[in-house]
Amino acid sequence: MISIILGTRPEIIKMSPMISECQRQRMDYFILHTGQHYSYNMDKVFFEQLELPEAKYNLDAGSGMHGEQTGKMLSGIEKVLIKEKPDIVLVQGDTNTVLAGALAAAKLHIKVGHVEAGLRSFDRRMPEEINRMLADHCSDYLFAPTGRSKELLLKEGIDDAKIFVTGNTIVDAVFQNLKLAKSDFLNEMGLKEKEYILVTAHREENVDDPDRFMNIFNGIDMVSKELGVPAVYPIHPRSRKMMEKFGFNLDGNIKLIEPLDYLNFLKIEAGAKLVLTDSGGVQEEACILGVPCVTLRDNTERPETVEVGSNILAGIDPDIIVESARRMLARDKSWKNPFGEGKAAEKIGRIVKMIQAR
Ligand code: UD1
Ligand code: UDP
Repeated sequence: MISIILGTRPEIIKMSPMISECQRQRMDYFILHTGQHYSYNMDKVFFEQLELPEAKYNLDAGSGMHGEQTGKMLSGIEKVLIKEKPDIVLVQGDTNTVLAGALAAAKLHIKVGHVEAGLRSFDRRMPEEINRMLADHCSDYLFAPTGRSKELLLKEGIDDAKIFVTGNTIVDAVFQNLKLAKSDFLNEMGLKEKEYILVTAHREENVDDPDRFMNIFNGIDMVSKELGVPAVYPIHPRSRKMMEKFGFNLDGNIKLIEPLDYLNFLKIEAGAKLVLTDSGGVQEEACILGVPCVTLRDNTERPETVEVGSNILAGIDPDIIVESARRMLARDKSWKNPFGEGKAAEKIGRIVKMIQAR
């Protein structure tokens, strides 16, 4: 039996092709949700829209300090794994849920498969960097999205035989859902194709720091004014909370909206003139959708996007954000998506079956 452990918005989206694959192949599996994300628009909306079965377990771990949150998940996951005795646990990405899932399973001698293994920003101030490194080193099977991720894992001493280059399941998710995206959403929002900027920002190191967060807002405002188009920002609950805490009051060109469901988000992303983001998944999706991206960070664990030319790292200096937007918009958009052809879940499913048959 396979245990799919997930807990946050990007994990639900990126695991959804894996769950569909388990259903298609009639594999025996169950979903364990840690409850790291719990608001309707960060969690349930994706289960409904992507037609995913309800999780068999939800640990309701909720929000908290890193240790507190991870600790709750670790002890909850351990109990479920002891009861269910799966032969393999699958985790995806770099959140606290992933760390807890990989660690709990490894200590119980249950095989761990890490989907999206081998990403490195080389910035240990990011909680995600710690999570992804530890998860990779606890894992028995590492599903690397690109050859580059595989190389990074080999350099860290991980055995070649454990690593499989599969592509990233985000490509599967985009291909499967883009065609379902409602066509009148932009109209409803009062937006015209290629006449607005899409913004997402939620990284702890950006939005928990008032100066960095304010710089980001200033940069967005300047880009929006220079291009003469509005900026739309479906705001992550962490960022909303921080804005309120810092007493930020925006006027002008930045339109804050609630987090979107996946189909509407894909629609607004595909139609954007430019994406400004600090999200990992959004850097990948912009690359896949052919939309120019400026990343509001100094580094990225998705350097493939920078190499193919779909993304520029700007950091948070407003002048550099504006300059990066100019450079990105001047580029030819015919880059090639480096994350695979949308068959990652199928490949991972085949490998998992092979492992189970051993
Ligand atoms: C987490 C991940 C991050 C990932 C992001 C995806 C870690 C360390 N961080 O960050 O890597 O990019 O998810 O979106 O695992 N909140 C709600 N409703 C929710 C969830 C959160 O209101 O459903 C608010 C709470 O105020 C909470 C804050 O957001 O304190 C942060 O949530 P948390 O899960 O700790 O981290 P994220 O910033 O969401
Ligand atoms: N996303 C969404 N609605 C939104 C913002 C993002 O559905 O309002 C999706 C987006 O398409 C991508 C994923 O959420 O697939 C990215 O998640 P997030 O930025 O929260 O986390 P990260 O990828 O940085 O870990």
